[in-house]
Amino acid sequence: MERVIIFDTTLRDGEQAAGGTLNTKEKLESAKQLARLGVDVIEAGFPIASPGDFEAVNLIAKEVRSPSICALARAVPEDIDRAGEALKEAAHPRIHIFLSSSDIHLVYQLKKSRQEILEMARNMVTRAKKYTDDIEFSPMDATRTEPEYIYQILEAVIDAGATTVNIPDTVGYTIPDEFGRLISGILKNVPNIRQAVVSIHCHDDLGLAVANSLEALRHGARQVECTINGIGERAGNASLEEIVMAIKTRHDLFNLTTNIDTMQIYRTSRLVSELTGFMVQPNKAIVGTNAFSHESGIHQDGVIKMPITYEIIDPKMVGISASSLVLGKLSGRHAFKERLAELGYSLSDEDFSRAFAVFKQLAEKKKTITNKDIESLVAEEQRTVSEIYHLDRIQVSCGDRGIPTAAVRLIGPEGQVIADAALGTGPVDAIYKAINRLVGVTNKLTEFSVKSVTEGIDAIGEVLIRVESGGITYTGRGADTDIIVASAKAYINALNRLLTTKKTTE
Ligand code: KIV
Ligand code: ZN
Repeated sequence: MERVIIFDTTLRDGEQAAGGTLNTKEKLESAKQLARLGVDVIEAGFPIASPGDFEAVNLIAKEVRSPSICALARAVPEDIDRAGEALKEAAHPRIHIFLSSSDIHLVYQLKKSRQEILEMARNMVTRAKKYTDDIEFSPMDATRTEPEYIYQILEAVIDAGATTVNIPDTVGYTIPDEFGRLISGILKNVPNIRQAVVSIHCHDDLGLAVANSLEALRHGARQVECTINGIGERAGNASLEEIVMAIKTRHDLFNLTTNIDTMQIYRTSRLVSELTGFMVQPNKAIVGTNAFSHESGIHQDGVIKMPITYEIIDPKMVGISASSLVLGKLSGRHAFKERLAELGYSLSDEDFSRAFAVFKQLAEKKKTITNKDIESLVAEEQRTVSEIYHLDRIQVSCGDRGIPTAAVRLIGPEGQVIADAALGTGPVDAIYKAINRLVGVTNKLTEFSVKSVTEGIDAIGEVLIRVESGGITYTGRGADTDIIVASAKAYINALNRLLTTKKTTE
């Protein structure tokens, strides 16, 4: 079977999704998990875009050694040089150059002729070759470009040394049959095409990104660009987990394989959702909460008798724990460690000890601890690692007669204990005002939502918030059996991310 190269762009196109900003540490953590998942290429960012992006690409290039690390660049010298600089220490560096090719973009945006574009593309690929042999070129908006012009550009860039040519459906406009024909046309009409890998990059504006990608693979493309949970600009990108599992489940049809360790899919999906603050819809294929739950009696009966009756994928194959046994206050370190491993976590000894202590505290309050509780508590613990401000204590008084009042105590950046109190229109407002008095960063709360992790009155409540500051949106999350405490944790989490990003930019 031929192998498909999995190019993950969660940290570049995925992070371009409105409100999905990640800081350097979060990008590095995601990149390490993507390496565990087995992706071949990680597009780590767009170094010219900001100092933070440069730093993230640079750090990932230093620390994540097995996949190729790719940096994005426009077809201009400054971008290429900045990308080359960011990748200096990469084990396998790749520069990805993009340049619009459709007349719509040429006339209205770039105001350049086709000939000028062709020259720019050729020259910039030649320039990028100074930094690495591994060069990818994308004619942006390819699906709205006249195919004959794409053939010309591809021939020119391959001639200049491009080793991968990527065909982006930038605005999610194409449909499977048309896209398949475009890929066949490229393979047939570009004379030097065998010297490069043909890649595809589909957006989901018409809900067809995965279908289009799969059709392109059937027509000879051998690299697919995708993101975890399908996150990305506007309606998102093609979802990695759906493409990989389609290829695997229907190998009879595709006769293709990938390097992905599918057991890491669920864990990667949870991590990306956790860090970006984008929840996965319950009915999302492969990784949604309902993807493997059977409600109808007839289906349940079938699955009990033989899972294959209504399940085309064994949930264990994507890393969803087979064990539905709940843990409780009598469960020991060993049982907890085993369950963490089943859920795909590999914590350091120190992180494990902290997580176990929190597990024990939770078991005192909550009779049964499910897998979802464990995921939530580990995520909460990881959020508190290297915080700038840490929530130490909180006390709230509220009700329909009194004035909502909150007293908050934080541990500050130098380990100092700071405390203050405030009145508000409700308990959360009072807490946020008290925290604002202590931290003193201007921001606007733009989103607040609360949900319970499991059913039952003693469930953990998870709060997700978004705050805006200086035109950037920051996400914060907090979990606790007390939703007022969870709200405070979420706000501190958002402020810590805001402060970390500001520090990096400065
Ligand atoms: O969608 C797109 O065209 C892109 C390019 C940079 C490849 O993301
Ligand atoms: Zn894109």
